[in-house]
Amino acid sequence: MKVGDDRIWPALPMPAVMLDQGDLIAELNPAAEYFLNAPEKLLQGRQVTAFLRTDIDLAVNLARARADTAPLFLRDVTISLEGDRDITCDLQLAPLGEGSAEMLILLHPRQIVGQLGRALKVQTAARTAIGLADMLAHEIKNPLAGITGAAQLLAMNLGQADRELTDLILEETRRIVDLLAQVEQFGDLRKPDLRPLNIHDVLERARRSACLGAASGMRFRDQYDPSLPYTLGDAGQLAQVFANLFANAAEAAGPNGGNITIRSYYEPGLRLGDAGGGHAVPLQVEVTDDGPGISPNIADSLFQPFVSSRENGTGLGLALVSKIISDHNGTIGVTSRPGVTTFRISLPIAPAGKGTD
Ligand SMILES: Nc1ncnc2c1ncn2[C@@H]1O[C@H](COP(=O)(O)OP(=O)(O)O)[C@@H](O)[C@H]1O
Ligand SMILES: [Mg+2]
Repeated sequence: MKVGDDRIWPALPMPAVMLDQGDLIAELNPAAEYFLNAPEKLLQGRQVTAFLRTDIDLAVNLARARADTAPLFLRDVTISLEGDRDITCDLQLAPLGEGSAEMLILLHPRQIVGQLGRALKVQTAARTAIGLADMLAHEIKNPLAGITGAAQLLAMNLGQADRELTDLILEETRRIVDLLAQVEQFGDLRKPDLRPLNIHDVLERARRSACLGAASGMRFRDQYDPSLPYTLGDAGQLAQVFANLFANAAEAAGPNGGNITIRSYYEPGLRLGDAGGGHAVPLQVEVTDDGPGISPNIADSLFQPFVSSRENGTGLGLALVSKIISDHNGTIGVTSRPGVTTFRISLPIAPAGKGTD
């Protein structure tokens, strides 16, 4: 193997492994030596699957990339390293051209790249937290009703000055009741009713209602790929997902409004790493806004419930989004800098023949 310029290989910031035929390791770049904690000399000629222990069947995916002579992108693959360290990575398997047995593996460790959302891992935590919150919500509602009733009774016999205080009690209690209602809606979220649907129909529906409400100050642009196949989804729940993203973009933009670009496209190599070889999530929808961007101090916990930077925010919007997308066997990630914030949703497509155009 000869990389065009000898200086590129050691300079690559992400771990890179070059394979010969039979999935034998030919070369490691320094980042890969560091990542695997082993010198190149030790690993050369050894089976890659013995050193990259993944929660997907790596050999099967390597064979697939070779057979297709096309790069495969595997998201959210867990790699077990020595010392019981588990690291979540995105993996790129790139065959070096037709008829060549050589293959390049690029690893993008999430902890190092830290850009795309770690939504899937968070989702389990979110579920537990939501279950608890839902239980609490039920328990808190009764005493709240008591407090409200008592404050109303008190108010009847009070002068104007004191009534301001009971009004405050009533107003604040109402806020808690509203919050609880949202938490309960969350807990009640049923499993999606998955049917083949055109994602653009859902996007248009969400956009129309957002324009009338939460995102009325925003200008929308779309870049749809009209040839996109159908996905399997619950139209109502997916509309809720996009409505939340549009509302967040509008809130971030502030009173002067801003621009939202909705883009859809097909990415054949994108797979979601899960137990048993993973599944394809080739259908992509990106929602991009030109607002100030996500504040760095919440970027890591964005999809967790009750994480909000807004004074009256509940922090439930993105937790709900991530739960729904996970129930759709998809994934969501985010990249953000001032002026460009993009939420990207990746979904499976409906089985062939089911409603595809
Ligand atoms: N498009 C965006 N631009 C900037 N920040 C965002 C955007 N979307 C979400 N956020 C941040 O993520 C936080 C959590 O969002 P969300 O879960 O919808 O809860 P909430 O909207 O109630 O605050 C927001 O408070 C905001 O700080
Ligand atoms: Mg929100």
